[in-house]
Amino acid sequence: MGFSSSLGNLRDYQNVGYLAVPLLITEGVAGVSAIIPTELAGFDIPRRFGAEWLKSNGVSDKAGSATVLRSTSGISIILVSVGQDFNNYESWRLVGSAVMRIAGAEAVNLLFPLDVISQASGCAQAVVEGAALSVYDYKAPEKEAELYLVPLDAQEPNSETLRTIESAIEDALSATELVNWAKRLIDMPPRDASPRKLAKAYAKRLGEQENVTVEVWDADRVKAEGLGGLIGVGRGSNEPVRLVYATYRPKASENTPHVVLVGKGITFDSGGLSIKPADSMMTMKSDMSGSAIVMATLALCAELGLNLRVTAIAPMSENMTGGSATRPGDVLTIRNGTTVEVLNTDAEGRLVLADGLTLATEIEPSLIIDIATLTGAQRVALGDQIAAFYSTSDAVAKALENSSEATGECLWRMPLHAGYNPAIESEIADIKNIGAGGGGSITAALFLQRFVADKPWVHFDIASTARAEGGRGYLSKGATAFGVRTLTHFLSEVASKGTLPTA
Ligand code: BES
Ligand code: MN
Ligand code: ZN
Repeated sequence: MGFSSSLGNLRDYQNVGYLAVPLLITEGVAGVSAIIPTELAGFDIPRRFGAEWLKSNGVSDKAGSATVLRSTSGISIILVSVGQDFNNYESWRLVGSAVMRIAGAEAVNLLFPLDVISQASGCAQAVVEGAALSVYDYKAPEKEAELYLVPLDAQEPNSETLRTIESAIEDALSATELVNWAKRLIDMPPRDASPRKLAKAYAKRLGEQENVTVEVWDADRVKAEGLGGLIGVGRGSNEPVRLVYATYRPKASENTPHVVLVGKGITFDSGGLSIKPADSMMTMKSDMSGSAIVMATLALCAELGLNLRVTAIAPMSENMTGGSATRPGDVLTIRNGTTVEVLNTDAEGRLVLADGLTLATEIEPSLIIDIATLTGAQRVALGDQIAAFYSTSDAVAKALENSSEATGECLWRMPLHAGYNPAIESEIADIKNIGAGGGGSITAALFLQRFVADKPWVHFDIASTARAEGGRGYLSKGATAFGVRTLTHFLSEVASKGTLPTA
């Protein structure tokens, strides 16, 4: 069954499990909303908790810090901090993960005082998101967890309010189901997630959505289509390459924007002949994150019935060292005719994306967005909590920053600095696949820019944020599927405005 969430009611909550009470922290003191009953399941709930008491019980203005008032038979109470603001989405995500961690398999009824929560639907969506994302566990796919939101107000909350909260809960469930689906594929052992097997898994899941069609191109088709970058990267592997091509086209979509997503699908990156050190290879099954992210995003757009066209393209390959592997010094010809001197076979992502981006330019995109675990340099620049993005449009960049603010997936815009173009010049081909002189995430982006034919374009380098090694807040250990929520937020704004952001 997995994770479930819905509206709950204070009158008929179960008499086992947990009741969670949100605390607002101001100047070290915790306040409880006046709406919350002073007596809950046999416990007295004071209106305020002093600084001393909070400190000794580990509750602070850090959202998600919590303490439990235990009863040995029946309901226990979780007192959980929402920090200094009752209307901060990120704080509610942390509250969601904190209460699920405490409750384990037991149900949580979270009191949701509407007198102080003015952004009820956004906060409800956030708390359910945080809960559902945090309970993901690769080893326990069937793990049960339940979160009920119990809206409270001076009067009985009206049915309109309840309906908006209910639909926010449903949106959060749709989003997290697909994010967790992507995380599971990313966390799978790479032998079980070969290009063939993954392409099949994508096609199967997307096939369940209305208004979605999926094509899987096999190696012959990829060759016939002239995808020289993808073929070149695939040469060192016994596993044949694939390209997944998915479209979402809602009815009456003639005049809607068309956004094309391209995701890097390297199912294992050994580095190829420019082989990686053993330690760097340990997480390289995640190098197909971009592909899972674009497929999950497209499926989510379909699930939410967004009014825009989305195409998702995922070139899929292993990067291995077999006897036919591309050598440092070999030249590949990308679909658009550009020749690339491969000087480091470990810079393979840009080679497969070059073909994917070329395909994207051919179908009248309003905007192309690619997402890839592309460079170690991105981690050096921004660390493991912030992804890099590049945009040819300031208005699109601004909109993405707003979406990022809403979803808690941190982004930082980086420059497409044309002055670094000489770093990818080649002596024997149009360009080479490595830069010289530092700024490795930037030179990779400049490489990709050669393949977007001056269409509006955004590039995400998520090398550092694609995994959360130890788990953090509501991020479970391992894959994060970083970007699905932000891209979907952005696309849903585009869909509701009917046009791309303009200055
Ligand atoms: N998949 C890696 C990038 C990566 C590194 C992702 C660490 C996640 C964590 C990519 O294919 C790669 O190997 N990039 C090279 C490029 C270099 C050879 C120009 C890198 O960043 O070292
Ligand atoms: Mn590589
Ligand atoms: Zn790679």
